Amino acid sequence: MSTSTPDGITLELITPELIDGQPSESWRLLDRAISRGFHGPSANAEDRKILTELEIQDGSRSIAAFDRTAQAPDLHACEPVGTYSYFPGTLNVGGAELVPVHQVTSVTVSPTHRRRGILRSMITEHLAGAAAQGIAVAVLTASEATIYGRFGFGVAAERARFELKAGQGAQFRVPMTGSVRAADPAEIASQVEELYLAHHRATLGSVSHKAFDLGRATARWEDFENLKPSTKLRAALHYNASGELDGFITYTFDGWGQSPATMSISTLCTVNAQARRELIAYLCDHDLVERVTGRAPVDDALPLALRNSRDYSVTAYGDHLWARLLNLPSALEARSYPHDARVVLQVEDDMGFVDGTWLLEARDGRIVVQRTESGAAEARILARDLATLYLGTRSANHLAAAGLLTEHHQGAADRLDLLFSGLQTPYCQVDF
Ligand SMILES: CC(C)(COP(=O)(O)OP(=O)(O)OC[C@H]1O[C@@H](n2cnc3c(N)ncnc32)[C@H](O)[C@@H]1OP(=O)(O)O)[C@@H](O)C(=O)NCCC(=O)NCCS
Repeated sequence: MSTSTPDGITLELITPELIDGQPSESWRLLDRAISRGFHGPSANAEDRKILTELEIQDGSRSIAAFDRTAQAPDLHACEPVGTYSYFPGTLNVGGAELVPVHQVTSVTVSPTHRRRGILRSMITEHLAGAAAQGIAVAVLTASEATIYGRFGFGVAAERARFELKAGQGAQFRVPMTGSVRAADPAEIASQVEELYLAHHRATLGSVSHKAFDLGRATARWEDFENLKPSTKLRAALHYNASGELDGFITYTFDGWGQSPATMSISTLCTVNAQARRELIAYLCDHDLVERVTGRAPVDDALPLALRNSRDYSVTAYGDHLWARLLNLPSALEARSYPHDARVVLQVEDDMGFVDGTWLLEARDGRIVVQRTESGAAEARILARDLATLYLGTRSANHLAAAGLLTEHHQGAADRLDLLFSGLQTPYCQVDF
């Protein structure tokens, strides 16, 4: 596949492949452009092979933008000036089934070609293709909060970082009822894979893990820039009172140069809050450790469970998962609706996917979504802000208070809140 943008930039679809055990030349050049775009080192041949194998396992595809006018010694004579990758995954939207999504990643444009509409061309082409394939939602994580709103993406899950004072063992108000077993991360791949999926099924806003995540959680490598087995990573498994496996944690000690002495959570995947609490308590129970740090949902219940709630502090807070609705009926029908409500909502979408006036009627846990005439609209919202309402990240009244939802009929925001309420706070711990 190859298309051209108005100013002579060519877009090409590139698929990862290994030829004689090495990435194809087109994939190698794409990979080099992505590393350059994020100011990272170029991978050596061995690492590039591993990364390509991982991309193949994930089913990745990339759009590469080429400037065919560039000539050597300009690197862009052969290397793309823009990159945009996507791979299939699933999103937990609070319904009976996980929803197929396209996960967008590795978006870069060379500084010599920025702000000429190359990202716009790549994203427009990809989102139209995804919608045509029946994908109802696209998701991404953003390097900057100012880039993707104009393409209809809104914040669908936020995330915090926390630190917890340790030093005297776990100080919780509630007794431990399950048990924790130390484990070698390299020997628990099947448990890790099972728990990733169980956590995903149990957690609104979570997306499926990538092949890379499994390797990192099992110490096959430290991170993208260090694809050597990790010698620092440790792990533990949690079992509930009935002896059923319901969580794992991986963590590293930050080193004796760090004060206070800190245990950092790398991955914490549980199917319930008790397992999460007790795995964090296990880290606090390590002698010589004065602090535990990690990621958390923004409404973390952990401080409530502590004898001294001030031992817990949030050190960072912000957007994490961004979503783009591509098919409104399919996206909305995929989640559940604990409350009956009816609203006519006008959605403004520059890219057209969910543009229009829609009757939303939830009854007995299900929703009916139908186009209706524009004069009937009771409230108005942009597509990007509807993505924020979708999983309950923010309420309609909250969006109205920010001036992002306009009520034509008094009470429309309250009815939207009734309709969209009733789910847990979304949380996505996977990075991509
Ligand atoms: C972000 C990036 C891919 C944008 O590519 P680009 O080709 O310059 O973007 P476009 O020219 O298509 O811009 C489209 C619109 O987005 C805006 N925009 C693009 N990047 C932006 C940014 N970083 N901040 C604010 N606005 C931005 C443009 O001003 C333009 O707005 P308009 O349509 O209202 O005129 C590029 O700057 C980049 O590679 N950044 C470093 C890597 C990175 O952060 N990637 C994103 C990873 S999530």
